[in-house]
Amino acid sequence: MKKILVVYYTQTGQLQSALKATLAPLEKDSSISVSYLQIQPKEAFPYPWTYMQFFDAFPETVNGIPTELAPFTINQDENYDLVVIAYQPWFLSICIPINSFLQTAEAKKLLKDKNVVTILACRNMWLNGQEKMKVHLKNLEAKLVGNITFVDPAANLVSLVTVFAFALGGVKDKFMGIFPKYGVSDTDLQESAPKYGEILLKHLQKGNYEQQQKELVELGAVKIKSNLLIMEGRGKAIFPLYANYLSKRGTAKTEERRTRVRIFGIVLPTAILLLSPFITILSRLSPILFPKKIKKEIDYYSQNTLR
Ligand SMILES: Cc1cc2nc3c(=O)[nH]c(=O)nc-3n(C[C@H](O)[C@H](O)[C@H](O)COP(=O)(O)O)c2cc1C
Repeated sequence: MKKILVVYYTQTGQLQSALKATLAPLEKDSSISVSYLQIQPKEAFPYPWTYMQFFDAFPETVNGIPTELAPFTINQDENYDLVVIAYQPWFLSICIPINSFLQTAEAKKLLKDKNVVTILACRNMWLNGQEKMKVHLKNLEAKLVGNITFVDPAANLVSLVTVFAFALGGVKDKFMGIFPKYGVSDTDLQESAPKYGEILLKHLQKGNYEQQQKELVELGAVKIKSNLLIMEGRGKAIFPLYANYLSKRGTAKTEERRTRVRIFGIVLPTAILLLSPFITILSRLSPILFPKKIKKEIDYYSQNTLR
């Protein structure tokens, strides 16, 4: 009997659907037991978020400050063959609940010497969050052996509008009747996800994960667009500066930093809107001007080690 532990957080259920679809082949196999550990903060994050709540979560997310979690029970001595960590990137970082879990004593014990697969379902920017995940796993002495990502297929500016409508307006359907529905596509969930699951199943049964990521990438489990890669590079450099600028004024939810948070909430979407067209042009030119560099970056982010 092979044992898997799935640690996950989901706020509106998108990641849970992706998990369910991916793990279906493993759930069906009687030689495999799948246990779930849902991480929940002691005080739930709001949905829909108000504008202020959303941007106020930025500094702690970027700086990796943990929040208190609701108590959870897990047999820390269970020797899992594989641990799946399913999380969302928030502000190009690991979402606070999963980031908090990774800093617990339980995680330290559970993850040591374990094989780990990460599963993400998000808008489209997960590269930097996953780099942070690689650092956590390295420090926890776990081995990342697979990464599967589900993203919103719409153009960047389109999903920027729909994610705000979704997160702040609670719009789960077509925003204003004209925008596409926010989130991961149904085809990806129905057709691709079970194929990724079959690959996980095969390697779990063999107990050898050497070729796993390569096979996942061949099936499209990691799609990296050069414009998003360039945009994330910009965000990665600037976000910590903003995070410190905000947190200097006060801790989460405090009155002292409200003005700065409010300004940031205008600056961030505006900057993305203004930069996006330039970066898209740059990204169209980059593969022509620097084909080797872009390919090298895409190859790097498709695999599971840290540089
Ligand atoms: C505070 C916040 C920040 C987010 N930042 C990002 C991000 O940087 N990159 C991204 O691709 N998606 C981002 N998203 C979208 C989430 O990754 C995810 O799609 C959404 O929260 C729905 O997931 P769930 O239904 O599993 O809770 C963000 C969402 C929230 C709430």
